[in-house]
Amino acid sequence: MLHILARVLHVTSVAPNVYVLAFHAPDLAAAVRPGQFVNILTGDSLQPLLRRPFSVYRTEGDAVEVIFQRVGKGTAALSLAQPGGFLDIIGPLGAGFHLDDPRYQTAVLIGGGLGVAPLPIATAALQKAGKRVVTLLGARTAGQLVETHLENVHVATDDGTRGLHGTVVDLAAQYLPVGAHEDARLFGCGPTPMLRALAEFARTRALECEVSLEGQMACGIGICQGCPVELTGQLRTYALMCKDGPVFNTRDIVI
Ligand SMILES: Cc1cc2nc3c(=O)[nH]c(=O)nc-3n(C[C@H](O)[C@H](O)[C@H](O)COP(=O)(O)OP(=O)(O)OC[C@H]3O[C@@H](n4cnc5c(N)ncnc54)[C@H](O)[C@@H]3O)c2cc1C
Ligand code: FES
Repeated sequence: MLHILARVLHVTSVAPNVYVLAFHAPDLAAAVRPGQFVNILTGDSLQPLLRRPFSVYRTEGDAVEVIFQRVGKGTAALSLAQPGGFLDIIGPLGAGFHLDDPRYQTAVLIGGGLGVAPLPIATAALQKAGKRVVTLLGARTAGQLVETHLENVHVATDDGTRGLHGTVVDLAAQYLPVGAHEDARLFGCGPTPMLRALAEFARTRALECEVSLEGQMACGIGICQGCPVELTGQLRTYALMCKDGPVFNTRDIVI
C-alpha cells in the first residue's frame, strides 16, 4: 500500500455530473490490479475529514485515472481539482477481480451507472490475458453512458433512450440465454439492488460471478471495522468490504 502526494494531470467532464480525474502516480500505476481502489483525501481542510474511496478506472503509462459522480462535498471538491495541484492518496487498496483463471474463456463485464468504473482497467488486463470480453452497460438514460476504453459494448437504459429498454440485468438475461455461454464468467459493479439482481441471475444460470460492492467506508484499510459484509454459510461471519473486498464471489456473500 502506497501513501503518495500525486500531481493532478486533468479533471475532465465525461457526462453530466461525471468526471475523470487523472493523476501522476507511477508506482501506483504499476501496482494496482483491476477492482482495487484508492482512498483520496478530497479537501485540504478538515471538511471533508474522511478520505473517499474510488475504484481505479484506468492506468496509462505513469498516470492513474478514476471516474466519479459529484454527489456531495468530497466529490464536489474533487471536481474542482486543478492540474498541477496535489492530492493525498492511499492505494492500491482491497482485493480485486480474479481475471486470470484459466477455467473460463469469455468475461462478461457488467456495469450499472458509475459501476462502469473498474471495467476499463479490467478490459485491458483481460485483453492481455487473451480472454474474450463482452461488456454490458446500464444507465438511467443514454447521456449517462460512458462507453470509452471498453470492448464489445451492449447497452440498456431505464428510459429506453439507447439499447434495451430495461436494466442491465435484463440485458444480461438477453445476452446469456439458458444453457449458452457455459464458459462465461460474470464480473459486475454497480448499485446494491443491481448487484443483488445480478447475483440471483448468476445463481439461476449456474454462472460464476464476482461483484465489486459499493458502500460506506471510514478508514478504508481494515482498522475501524465499519464496513462489514455478511458471509453465507452456517456460521454467520463477516468479512470487511475494504480489506477482504470490495470484490467478492456472489456465492460467498449476502448482498
Ligand atoms: C470500494 C468503493 C469504490 C467506489 N468507487 C467509486 C467510483 O469509482 N466512482 C464514484 O463516483 N464513486 C465510487 N464510490 C462511491 C464514492 O466513494 C462516494 O460517491 C463518495 O464517497 C461520496 O463522497 P462525497 O463526499 O461527495 O459525498 P458525501 O458528502 O459523503 O455524501 C453526500 C450525499 O450523497 C450520498 N451518496 C454518497 N455516496 C453516494 C453514491 N455512491 N451514490 C449516490 N449517492 C451517494 C450520501 O448518502 C449523501 O446523501 C466507491 C465506493 C466504494 C466503497
Ligand atoms: S472501512 Fe474501516 S475497516 Fe473497512
